[in-house]
Amino acid sequence: MVSAAGAEERDLRPDELPDGLVVADDRGLVTCFNAEAVRLTGIAAATAIGAPIDRALPLEDPEGRRWWRLTDPYGGLATRSGQPERILRLPDGRTVLVTARYVRVRPAGPVSRLVVALRGTAARRRSERTEAELVATVAHELRSPLTSVKGFTATLLDKWDRFTDDQKRLMLQTVDSDADRVTRLITELLDVSRIESGRLELRREPVRLDESVRRHVAGLTGGGLPADRFELRLADGLPWLWADPGKLDQVLGNLLENALRHGGGTVTITVRALPPTDDRPEGLETTVSDEGAGIPEDVMHRVFTRFWRGGARGGTGLGLYIVKGIVEAHGGTVSVGRSARGGARFRFTLPAGLPAFLA
Ligand SMILES: Nc1ncnc2c1ncn2[C@@H]1O[C@H](COP(=O)(O)OP(=O)(O)O)[C@@H](O)[C@H]1O
Ligand SMILES: [Mg+2]
Repeated sequence: MVSAAGAEERDLRPDELPDGLVVADDRGLVTCFNAEAVRLTGIAAATAIGAPIDRALPLEDPEGRRWWRLTDPYGGLATRSGQPERILRLPDGRTVLVTARYVRVRPAGPVSRLVVALRGTAARRRSERTEAELVATVAHELRSPLTSVKGFTATLLDKWDRFTDDQKRLMLQTVDSDADRVTRLITELLDVSRIESGRLELRREPVRLDESVRRHVAGLTGGGLPADRFELRLADGLPWLWADPGKLDQVLGNLLENALRHGGGTVTITVRALPPTDDRPEGLETTVSDEGAGIPEDVMHRVFTRFWRGGARGGTGLGLYIVKGIVEAHGGTVSVGRSARGGARFRFTLPAGLPAFLA
C-alpha cells in the first residue's frame, strides 16, 4: 500500500490520462469527466459533473438511437460486464470510440460504477483509409495483367484461324509475361505481409556475400548483358555472414535489377568489411551504384515505402520495401543516396561473423 504522505503526487490524476474518461456512480450520476473527455466531446466538465450519464454524455449509435437507453447499464442482465469498443456519435455530429465497463462490487450484484473510455476516431479512420488504399492498389495491379491475359486468350480462341503463327506467338508471349507479372506480384505481396506481421523467417547459414555478388553478375552477363556494365570492387578476406542466402539473393537481385532498369551506365558493386566499434559488432557494407539519372532529393525518403515508384518504368514498387524488410530482419540497415557519378547509390550493412559454435 502507498502511505498517505505524498499520495497526491503519486496518484494518477484523470486529467493526465491520454484517453477520455467519464465515470458515473451507482445512481448514474457523473462523478468524473476528464480533460481529454472535454476535448473529444466539446462538453464542459462543469455541466457534466453531477448530471445523469444520459444527459451528460448524450451518445447515439449510427442509427440515431440513444445509446444509454439502448444498452441500459444499470438495468438488464446483472452478468454483463460492459460494452466493447464502438463508434458513437454526439448530437453535434462528432464521433468518438467508446468502451464502457460496468463495475460491480459483488458478482451479479448491482452496478456500483460505470466507467467509460473515449477515444478520437481520427487514427482509426487514417488506418482504415491506408488499408482501403492498399486493397485498391493490389486490385488494380492484379487486374491490368489479367485483363491483358483475358483479352489475348479470348481473341485467340475466337479468331484462331485468322492469325499467322508469328502473331499468335507474339500474343502468347504477352500472355506468358503477364502471367509472370501476376505471379511475381503475389510472391512479393506474400513477402510484404510476412514483413509486416513479423513472420519473415530467416534460414541462416554461413554466407560469403562477395561470392553471391559474383554469382549474380555472372548470371546477368550470361543472360546477355555486356560484362562492362558491371564493376566489382570486392575487398579481400571479407568476413562470413550468418544469414539467409536466398533472402540476400533477393536483396542483391532487386538492387541490381533497379540499377539496370531505373538507372544507367556502369553498375558498380562494392563490398567491404566494417571494423567493429563501441556500439556495433563487425559488419559488412555493400553498395550498388549506377550512372543513371538518380533519385530526386525530395522523393528519396519515399523509395522504401510500399508501392512507391518513380518513373514510367516502375514495376510493382514493392522491391525496395522488401529489400529494407529483409536487411532489417538480419539486423542491418539500408539507405539511399547519390553516387559520385550522379546516379543512385544504395547501401546496406549487415552484422558479420558466425555464431560461436561455427567460428
Ligand atoms: N537505381 C535507381 N535509379 C533511379 N531510380 C530508382 C533506382 N532504384 C529505384 N528507383 C526508383 O524507386 C522506385 C521504387 O523501386 P522498387 O521498390 O524497386 O519498385 P519497382 O522497381 O517495382 O518500381 C522505382 O520505381 C524507381 O522510380
Ligand atoms: Mg524494383
